Amino acid sequence: MQKNDIGKDKYRAMIEALGEGVLLVTRKHRIALSNASAEDLLSWASPLIGKDIEKIFDDRSLSDAIDDVFKEKERRKLKITSYHSYTGDRAILRGKGREKHYKSYITNLDDKYVVMTITDVTRIERLAIVRQDFVSNVSHELKTPLTAISGFAETLLDDSLTREEIKGFARIIQKNSAHMQRIISDLLLLTSLDRSEIAPSMATTTDERILSEVRSYTQYKAETKNVTVEYESTGRDIVCNESLIVQAVINLVVNAISYSHENTKVTVRTRIRGSAMEFIVSDKGSGIAEENISRIFERFYRVDKARSRESGGTGLGLSIVRHIAIIHNGTIKVESKLGEGSVFTLSIPLS
Ligand SMILES: Nc1ncnc2c1ncn2[C@@H]1O[C@H](COP(=O)(O)OP(=O)(O)OP(=O)(O)O)[C@@H](O)[C@H]1O
Ligand SMILES: [Mg+2]
Repeated sequence: MQKNDIGKDKYRAMIEALGEGVLLVTRKHRIALSNASAEDLLSWASPLIGKDIEKIFDDRSLSDAIDDVFKEKERRKLKITSYHSYTGDRAILRGKGREKHYKSYITNLDDKYVVMTITDVTRIERLAIVRQDFVSNVSHELKTPLTAISGFAETLLDDSLTREEIKGFARIIQKNSAHMQRIISDLLLLTSLDRSEIAPSMATTTDERILSEVRSYTQYKAETKNVTVEYESTGRDIVCNESLIVQAVINLVVNAISYSHENTKVTVRTRIRGSAMEFIVSDKGSGIAEENISRIFERFYRVDKARSRESGGTGLGLSIVRHIAIIHNGTIKVESKLGEGSVFTLSIPLS
């Protein structure tokens, strides 16, 4: 393809069609030209033409980088792949209060302009952080019971132990391995829910059946904690993955019992709201402080780590509930007041 065969407008159209943002920037750091993707990526600062780059990019080192590219005085194109030497590979921008991460290359065009390309890497960055957090959380959560298991197993090797002592240590080992098993099975469930390409099978059931399953699984816990659980259902049909909804409601009921005081009441009821069925679990327990409410659905998040671990909690229960809601196109909401109690509402479309 010969350059001369193509008109300027074709080049312009090509730049417009790029998925990458392209900016033409002057010596005074002003934007002289921008393509559609740049306007898209930096929509909160749009229109871009005439804007001072320092006002858009909240990063002083970016201006230094542009100055440096001008100083090179290279006529031919200069691709700054070593951009990281100025800004750590990417500029951090702040638009609408949210941190965004972009990767950018600055190329010298002539005395007057540099060309700057921008790619949004926010999602990739965030995913990397989430993954790192997840791995370190999992390792940490497994390490605690594992340390107990290996420690007490070692103690068991002591020949001078009485029969009773041996039993006591074996029980601790058993309890900790059961806890590890729970973490692993919860994680496996979460992973299988995450792989959204495997849609769960849906079938018709009733809320009555779901709640009676929930009751049979949670009765023992309620009795040992001396908490009364009252159930009330509509008897209406619902199309869902029954075992997943049962699992979600169990998690809510177990929480309601765990975070309740003795001799109090938990209620579990359903109602129809528009085209959805709501599973409402209310308790008169400890409640959740406002600053923690937005975080309790995160994996491994527990308000009171020590207390929750003692009661065998892993901090995965509510993130499982949230995932189950999502794959049913439903929602999970919570209203809570510290010291007064909580109401969790799981809403699932009827069909
Ligand atoms: N009904 C409730 N009342 C008060 N706090 C609650 C209630 N439900 C959840 N929480 C808080 O939210 C946190 C997260 O709950 P989640 O069910 O995800 O984890 P968990 O109960 O600690 O452990 P598990 O994975 O065994 O369920 C709990 O540790 C607790 O601090
Ligand atoms: Mg829980």
